[in-house]
Amino acid sequence: MFKTALVIIIAVASVNLSAFADQALAASKNCLSCHAIDKKLVGPAYKDVAQKYAGQKDAAAKLAAKIMKGGSGVWGAVPMPANTQVNEAEARKLATWVLTLK
Ligand code: HEC
Repeated sequence: MFKTALVIIIAVASVNLSAFADQALAASKNCLSCHAIDKKLVGPAYKDVAQKYAGQKDAAAKLAAKIMKGGSGVWGAVPMPANTQVNEAEARKLATWVLTLK
């Protein structure tokens, strides 16, 4: 009984911690100077991004590529510059995190 509770607590805590780590990664890579989770800044709110791509299987790969290379025309006229400070693994991690935010 106690053991089960402990396992659950650890599982919940690590999920929360990894979401926190991903947000910290976004902050450290300067993403949050143009994006917020729930409101539009220079770029779209991450919640809106997650909703737009909900249920699309290749969304994480597509967004990871866009994060690295930048691009425009999906959310308006303002382009996102290439984020050369982000490697492929980090881009994939950030894209996956953004997609969880709906
Ligand atoms: C200089 C401002 C700026 C920075 C820095 C920035 N973004 Fe963006 N981002 C934008 C803009 C503007 C758009 C909308 C582009 C469009 O309409 O295609 C966007 C779009 C996006 C999208 C949605 C792409 C799509 O095609 O729907 C994601 C995901 C994203 N950004 C993640 C990130 C991540 C992760 C970082 C940090 C590594 C980051 N952005 C850094 C401005 C920025």
